[in-house]
Amino acid sequence: ACRRAAGCLAMLALLGACEGRQAVLNPAGQDAAVIARLFLGMLTGAVILWLLVAGLFLYVTVFRVSHMPRRWAESLIVGGGVLFPTFVLAGLLSYSLPLMSSQRTGGDGLVVHVRGEQWWWRVTYETPQGNRAVSANEVRLPAGRRTEFRLTADKVIHSFWIPALGGKTDMIPGRETVMTLEPAETGLFRGQCAEFCGASHALMAFEVETMAPDLFDEWLRHAASDAVPPATEAARRGAGIFAAEGCGACHTVRGTPALGRVGPDLTHVGSRHSIGAALLPVTAADLALWVGRTGHLKPDVEMPQYDHLLPDALLDLGRYLEGLK
Ligand code: CUA
Repeated sequence: ACRRAAGCLAMLALLGACEGRQAVLNPAGQDAAVIARLFLGMLTGAVILWLLVAGLFLYVTVFRVSHMPRRWAESLIVGGGVLFPTFVLAGLLSYSLPLMSSQRTGGDGLVVHVRGEQWWWRVTYETPQGNRAVSANEVRLPAGRRTEFRLTADKVIHSFWIPALGGKTDMIPGRETVMTLEPAETGLFRGQCAEFCGASHALMAFEVETMAPDLFDEWLRHAASDAVPPATEAARRGAGIFAAEGCGACHTVRGTPALGRVGPDLTHVGSRHSIGAALLPVTAADLALWVGRTGHLKPDVEMPQYDHLLPDALLDLGRYLEGLK
């Protein structure tokens, strides 16, 4: 029973990769579809090849054929060892080379700069009209339009990857790598850092929302606007704590004196899908938990842990941040 359970778990893990928000084999855009097609083609070829080799192995072992006719053996060596790989590899090369250039076509105007930090994503949107918005740990994209990504990193190499849409491009400090993505449908997806970058590499993910183009334009206008003032008494107390603790030395809240550029821009943090790079949902309680326990939640994170604040103060701070829609 134990072995059967282990087998079921392994199958679940394998099949789990076929569906969901972070699935290579469930593409939501042409760029990922190309990769999925290439993978399935190569997998099919590999399975056929494996069956042939396994069949041959059974033929000479189980059926105890002690010696194969000499002409068979010769044609196996020439055919299987020289001709077959030459034609298969040449075929794969001529199939995959045009795919590489199809991944490089220019964008439709929107440029998204993503900078890999320890361990989060600094995201800056730039439109041809000169609109600019800074966000973090989530990427919103217009469906049906091709967006250009300019990728770089702060200290170490990261890799930007949205399995359902494509990408997986290295982010290298001091260099800018360019790639484009075109989502075909609207939905919620998940991206993940794909290059080991330190203690919290596994906790370096991000949310991706693909939107109808007009909704995206509306969202971008909002993302470029200043923060809304705190609306409740608790949020106002939280804003006071934010100022008194010097949070503005590292974080920006546009429209307030907080102009720090070390950590994520928090101007509209309350309207994001997650905090801590896809670690926690955006509620006042989770924001309070994050601020008070950063080092426990994400090892080696650069943000200090504000565990000297009392739970009520942390919750007020959480209410202020949650209100920054
Ligand atoms: Cu960033 Cu792994």
